[in-house]
Amino acid sequence: METQQSDALDVAAIREDFPILQREFSGSQVVYLDNAATSQTPDQVVDVIADYYRETNANVHRGLHHLSQEASIAYEDAHDRLAEFVGASGGREEMVFTKNTTESENLVAFAWGLNELGPGDEVVLTEMEHHASLVTWQQVAKKTGAEVKYIPVTDDGYLDMDAAAELITDDTQLVNAVHVSNTLGTVNPVAELGDIAHDHDALFFVDGAQAVPNRPVDVEDIGADFYAFSGHKMLGPTGIGCLYGRKELLEDMEPYLYGGMMIERVTFEDSTWAELPWKFEAGTPVIAQGIALAAAVDYLEDIGMERIQRHEEQLAEYAYDRLTEFDDVEVYGPPGDDRVGLVSFNVGSVHAHDLSSILNDHAVAIRAGDHCTQPLHDKLGVAATARASFYVYNTREEVDKLIEAIDDARQLFA
Ligand SMILES: Cc1ncc(COP(=O)(O)O)c(C=O)c1O
Repeated sequence: METQQSDALDVAAIREDFPILQREFSGSQVVYLDNAATSQTPDQVVDVIADYYRETNANVHRGLHHLSQEASIAYEDAHDRLAEFVGASGGREEMVFTKNTTESENLVAFAWGLNELGPGDEVVLTEMEHHASLVTWQQVAKKTGAEVKYIPVTDDGYLDMDAAAELITDDTQLVNAVHVSNTLGTVNPVAELGDIAHDHDALFFVDGAQAVPNRPVDVEDIGADFYAFSGHKMLGPTGIGCLYGRKELLEDMEPYLYGGMMIERVTFEDSTWAELPWKFEAGTPVIAQGIALAAAVDYLEDIGMERIQRHEEQLAEYAYDRLTEFDDVEVYGPPGDDRVGLVSFNVGSVHAHDLSSILNDHAVAIRAGDHCTQPLHDKLGVAATARASFYVYNTREEVDKLIEAIDDARQLFA
């Protein structure tokens, strides 16, 4: 593993921590460009998971024996580590571990939205929302009589902030916006959106699933009331997500799931709730995953989030420039020098699934489909796009392999 020294990442050294990248398919080494879906996991994180099960495994909070105490301390400390990573000064009390971003969205929608929203209230989303938030708020709106409104996306892939200023009104109870679009690669002006929401006394919820993995994030600088992200997109294991919530809000909210571990006192008649964040972590929680996610954060910070951001942006810009050299390739979203490390595109009339399958013959792994943004794809006028997304271990040579494979597909369909 490399630690922060020069500006450029020592990608060769980083790649040694990811043996999966050495795998070969039909004689070609895998080129893994599906990081926006799930990132790979370095040995350092895999070792933490294995060591946990070999040496510490026990249930947390409830045991008085040594193993349980060790597991509890590591699990609780992991909450502090994640809180610190995203600038939540309230520490563990403001950091709830969930299953993924989707569950974090559902937690707020059901624990807060179901109780607070009613007819006449509005929830403002963006047209580039992932289904994780879009479908969830749609359902809560149906149950409560509230209305969902959408901030439009401009033709060049940005949020229409003039429209946002009109759409967000005193009827707005919550604004939920994606920090970084998983389809367009747009980085949204979340702090500005948060200010508009707060000017109308609305809460501001940010979906940071594509932001926390690749840039420094400070939830307090952004002014987020809630902020959600997933461990498996930031070198951590699957099965863990995070929800940052401002302490006063989490304190006032009803629990989302009920049962063991989230209670303080239970009688046959009634129950009271445990302190934060455990009130929101019913049942046996994501112990190994939480501890491993803290190790993933250590790994990311050893490299440096600013450097990771620059590395990804450089790869995305290079990919954008190479892709736009083809006159039959359409790339969606902002220009190459103003996007995160992902590029969604289509090649002529080739369906993205066919393209992905040909790329797979070259061992190039990309994503094809609607990326859980169907309404945005409707707006773009396409059923599907191909998406290449980059991370700390990707190289320019891999982008070249992507381009060669795309060119091969173009010849095949010509
Ligand atoms: C922007 C965004 N939000 C939410 C999600 C959902 O994440 P998860 O599947 O981990 O719940 C994703 C996953 O692709 C995403 O890209």
